[in-house]
Amino acid sequence: MHNKAVIITGHTSGLGAELAKLFEARGYMVVGVSRSRATTAGSRIHIQGSVADPHTIDQVVTEISRRGLIVEALINSAGIGNFGPVGDYTAAQISDVIDSSLTGPILLTNAIVKMWNQVKQDSGYIVNILSTAAFTARGGEAVYCAAKAGLKMFGDALRLQMKGSPFTVINIMPGGMNTPFWSGDPKASSFMSVSDVALIILQSFDSRPTALVTDIVVNRRG
Ligand SMILES: NC(=O)c1ccc[n+]([C@@H]2O[C@H](COP(=O)([O-])OP(=O)(O)OC[C@H]3O[C@@H](n4cnc5c(N)ncnc54)[C@H](OP(=O)(O)O)[C@@H]3O)[C@@H](O)[C@H]2O)c1
Repeated sequence: MHNKAVIITGHTSGLGAELAKLFEARGYMVVGVSRSRATTAGSRIHIQGSVADPHTIDQVVTEISRRGLIVEALINSAGIGNFGPVGDYTAAQISDVIDSSLTGPILLTNAIVKMWNQVKQDSGYIVNILSTAAFTARGGEAVYCAAKAGLKMFGDALRLQMKGSPFTVINIMPGGMNTPFWSGDPKASSFMSVSDVALIILQSFDSRPTALVTDIVVNRRG
């Protein structure tokens, strides 16, 4: 039984699924969060619910304490890309984007940092999967850009709060990846593979004692 754990939101698809595989191979217990009923591979723990639902967050915390897990990282990978011109969105489409990429990560981060403080843990990473849209405005992606830029600023501010503590925040800003995020759009076939991006993310955990990775931009070749 592993007691070192990593929480990965959006572990059922795309980048989150690839990261879950890599962390499991490194001996971590993966605590995954997604809305769909997942077939849990191996010993992975699946919490079903939206990451923006306080009940889901409570379930994550309860499960971690019940199993005595030590959470070394929270990876906020869940995200939805409802794109289109402002004026054409439904309220539900806007909520889906903001819930998965901004409200949910903030709620879950708050709960995990509280837990780390209570158990006086000696290290911990919050890893936010953002996008190049966190720093480059794109027409047709206003809601998505707002959510990603908002989470980037939350993470940057939290890193300052955490200065001098054993905890920190890493921002990951990938360009296009070939995942179900694109709902089968053929243009995604030329995008990056999640295995390439996930390996780069994993390396950021191997920071040296006096050096820290804070922001990683991963762009497509060519
Ligand atoms: N693909 C790209 O080109 C690209 C580029 C830059 C950044 N990103 C970012 O990278 C991250 C991963 O994207 P991906 O390409 O791997 O997407 P994906 O294959 O569509 O996977 C998204 C995951 O998020 C989960 N999810 C969505 N909303 C959720 C919610 N409210 N609560 C809990 N889980 C939720 C989904 O599961 P359920 O549907 O079951 O909830 C799924 O597991 C996202 O944050 C995305 O914005 C993607």
